[in-house]
Amino acid sequence: MRTITLALTGASGMPYGLRLLECLLEAGTRVQLLYSAAAQIVAKQECALTLPTQPREAARSLGERYGARQDQLLVYARDDWLAPMASGSNPGDAMAICPCTMGTLGAIAGGLADNLIERAADVILKERRPLVLVPRETPLSTIHLDNMLRLAQAGAIILPPAPGFYTQPRTIDDLVDFVVARVLDHLGVAHDLVARWGDARERPGPPTETV
Ligand SMILES: Cc1cc2nc3c(=O)[nH]c(=O)nc-3n(C[C@H](O)[C@H](O)[C@H](O)COP(=O)(O)O)c2cc1C
Repeated sequence: MRTITLALTGASGMPYGLRLLECLLEAGTRVQLLYSAAAQIVAKQECALTLPTQPREAARSLGERYGARQDQLLVYARDDWLAPMASGSNPGDAMAICPCTMGTLGAIAGGLADNLIERAADVILKERRPLVLVPRETPLSTIHLDNMLRLAQAGAIILPPAPGFYTQPRTIDDLVDFVVARVLDHLGVAHDLVARWGDARERPGPPTETV
């Protein structure tokens, strides 16, 4: 079973993070879930969801909500330095931070490692495993852009939640799935959330006129 660390931070876009959690569990991966205090506020605001402060309670309630199997969903406190992903000896297969605040992004770019989310990201980068960041802010300052460049140069995948419209989305769920599909691709998790461009199934007939 592959092990993915998923961190939710307090940026707008919690539906992406929760849908990602659901898809990872459905795909049979073991999920090590982390979330910040600000993520708890945003989850309440955007999804009317209470993310419990106690990790054990969080694993129980989120596991029930998403039908996780026994021990498939593990939740860790933000200062649990005994958690596996705090060490390069046990980093897991990949990590996503979705949504990712500019604060957490800046802290990772600066190598702070001051809480378990920042430390896990620091570890996964140094171990050369995939780190997918889904940063959300608009507009972006040069500080944000500098930090993103620094992280991309260190090997992180910067994946802004910028859904395409060429799939002709009809609902908010379609837009969310577009972004989550790209995150899953970069985590190496199979899915069929969105039809792939050029797939025979989806391909329209050839153009009949040249102009
Ligand atoms: C409803 C809400 C939406 C927010 N949206 C964003 C956002 O899109 N991007 C961002 O960088 N910060 C956003 N913030 C501010 C962060 O939550 C704040 O900077 C916090 O300290 C980040 O902490 P964290 O990185 O530990 O989650 C938002 C806060 C709230 C309450």
